Parts: sequence; C-alpha cells; structure tokens
Amino acid sequence: MNTNAALSADLLPETAKYPTLLERYRRVRSRTESLVAPLSPEDMVVQSMPDASPAKWHLAHTAWFFETFLLLPHVENYRPYDPEFAYLFNSYYEALGQRQPRAQRGMMTRPAVKSIIAYRHHVDERMVALLQSALPANIADLVELGIAHEEQHQELLLMDLLHLFSLSPVKPVYDRTWPDIKPGRRGRFIAINGGTVDIGTAAKDFAFDNEGPRHTVWLHAFEISDHLVTNAEWLEFIADGGYSRHELWLSDGWSLVQAEAWQAPLYWEQDSSSGEWRQMSLKGLQAIQPDAPVSHISYYEAAAFAAWAGARLPSEAEWEYAASAGILEQVDDAAWQWTQSAYGAYPGFRPAASAVGEYNGKFMVNQMVLRGGADITPAGHSRLTYRNFYRPGQRWMRAGLRLARDAR
Ligand code: AVJ
Ligand code: FE
Repeated sequence: MNTNAALSADLLPETAKYPTLLERYRRVRSRTESLVAPLSPEDMVVQSMPDASPAKWHLAHTAWFFETFLLLPHVENYRPYDPEFAYLFNSYYEALGQRQPRAQRGMMTRPAVKSIIAYRHHVDERMVALLQSALPANIADLVELGIAHEEQHQELLLMDLLHLFSLSPVKPVYDRTWPDIKPGRRGRFIAINGGTVDIGTAAKDFAFDNEGPRHTVWLHAFEISDHLVTNAEWLEFIADGGYSRHELWLSDGWSLVQAEAWQAPLYWEQDSSSGEWRQMSLKGLQAIQPDAPVSHISYYEAAAFAAWAGARLPSEAEWEYAASAGILEQVDDAAWQWTQSAYGAYPGFRPAASAVGEYNGKFMVNQMVLRGGADITPAGHSRLTYRNFYRPGQRWMRAGLRLARDAR
C-alpha cells in the first residue's frame, strides 16, 4: 500500500527521496549476498585466473574494507573479528602489511563460506551502530567509498564468475532470467566543434579521487558515433580477416593475437558443423545477437577494429564532452567503452596520504581508460566523469567500443 501515491516527488519527506547512508549501506550489502544466492559453496572457492577472484574472496574482502577503513579507526575499542583476516583479505594495500598473493586466492578453502557470511554480519552490526550515530563528514565520505567499493566488487564478482563458468565443460547457467544486453543499431557519426572544454568532477557528491580535479582541455573538432559497435559489425571484421591482418594491429596487440591465437572476442565459440557463433553468458551458451554491442574485447582488438573501419577510439575528454551533451546512446547500460587515453593523473591530482590513497593513484601507468558503464554495473554506480581502467590485453571485463574520427 502506498498512501503517498498521489503526492509528487517534491512533496515527499527528504528521507523518501534520498535514502540515507544507512539505507544505502544495507542495500549494497544485501545485494552482494543476493548475487551469490544461486551459487554453491564449490562455485565460490575456485579462482579461474590470476586476474579473477573467487566469489568467497569478494564477499570477505568487501567486509574487510569496512572493518579496516571504518570500524578499526573510528569505533572505540573495536578489535578485529579475526586477526588472520588482514592477511587473507587485504587486496593490495602495502601500507597495511603482508597479504595472500593475488594469484593464490583460490587456495583458501578455509575459512568456509558460512564463516565469511558470519564475518559480514558481524561487520554489518557494527557498521549499522556507527551509521546510527552522528557522523562527521570525513567518516561519511569513507562510508561512501566503502559502498562504491562494494559496488565495484559486485561487478567484478559477476565478471569473475562468468570467466569461471566459461571454462566449465557443462557451461553452467548463473541466472536464466538475467536480462540480455539491450540491442542497438549501427552507429552514426555526430560532428562536434573543437575548443576548450572542462572535464572531470567538481561535485560535492561522491566521486572517486581519480575523477578530479576538474580542469580545462583542448579538443580538435571531431566526430563520435552515437552507438556502440555491434556484434554484426564485428562479424564483418572477422570475415574480412581482421584477426590475421598485421597492418591493423598495434605491435603488442599483434604479439598477443598470435600468442593467444585470438580469432574472436573472449567467450565466443564457433559451432564446428553449422559455423554459427555462440557466446558464453550469465544465461549459459547463447546465440550471438547481431544488434547487441560487441563486448569482451581487449584494447588491442578495439584499436584494430577502429583502424579497419577507418576510424579511431575517442579520447576520454572527447567521450566525456560528447556524453555530457546528451547526444550519445548506450552511454552506461551496455558495455564499458575503451578510450585511446592512457590512465594517468589529471593536473592537480594528489592521492590521499593514508592507506586509502593506494585505492586508485598507484595504478596510473600501463592501463587504458574505459568510460560509460555496462549492464552488469550496479544501478547508479557510474557517472559521466567515471574513469574505469584496465590493461590493454585484458578481455574479461564487459568492454566494447564506440568509434570516433577526426573532423572531415
Ligand atoms: C577500477 C575495476 C580496475 O578491479 O582493481 C576494487 C576496482 N578497486 N577494489 C579493480 C577496485 C579496489 C578496480 N577497477
Ligand atoms: Fe577492492
């Protein structure tokens, strides 16, 4: 029953319009647990490759993050739930000491999943108590970071699970009802005048440190596609010898194509009798949808496709400026979009001096920026200033591409 149904949104009490930090904390924590509901304990232990983590590790690491950055420093007399967990569930914070090597996260059959869930609930009880007290702004900011961090791990959990299931001979279905990626159409180029534009966050609302400071950049006149490249277009690239023509590829990409024998995006497989391509998904093995955006491609593949199409990838400044003009489709609901921008510091960026300063800043080399968001990105997580980043050879993220070209 909704007795407020007749009221317009601006007559609702503040609390109904804007969920409190406490409500948002509860929602993000319980969503993580619903994401693992279809999984068996066996599904949750295995690590399919060094880049991926077991679901169980994601469950524990996100609790450890709140315990480490909120409870230990800000709750009087809080003692660690288990002193061994700092070693087991620290991801990469050098300032916080030794940790289980990343590539060996799958060796942790203990603690059991149910102990990890008990750990989560212990952290939740203490966090709820903390959130019910009057919070100074600096602590509220850390809670925002913890929530955004858990959302990042929700997406990682799905990526990692898909990778694991793709390697299973029985091709498990994670969720038969998982929505398909919304199809689009072939893109059309939109011309944009050059000039000085401002990019980056200046928001008082939460953003990661790497999204600011807001600053001015120069853009030459350019064109950018209103849609993402589709599977049908990718099939044309394959049919035209895209994976075997060295002249389309960056040198490092060409080495990887050969070393890994890439012939199609990750998760694609061709039926040996019919020649039809299928794709492993969260719903199991599925026919390729021609109008859906291509995804699970590396930066190298995106750049080779763009070269084949007589275009290039947009810079992150071009992407952000065009996206904020409201002229692009499939901005954040289909696939992350590779840009040609190397992930680095914006002018004036300073990472925080404490351990939390290791969150984004220390990764600012040898990775490329991706913009937008994907169907597996939690609702409301991304922003037009959001800077995702991965190494150019990685393919297990939901990453596709949008073309750009210089003004004609
Ligand atoms: C921004 C997705 C590259 O996976 O390391 C998780 C997200 N940061 N915990 C990553 C992240 C800290 C990050 N990416
Ligand atoms: Fe993390």
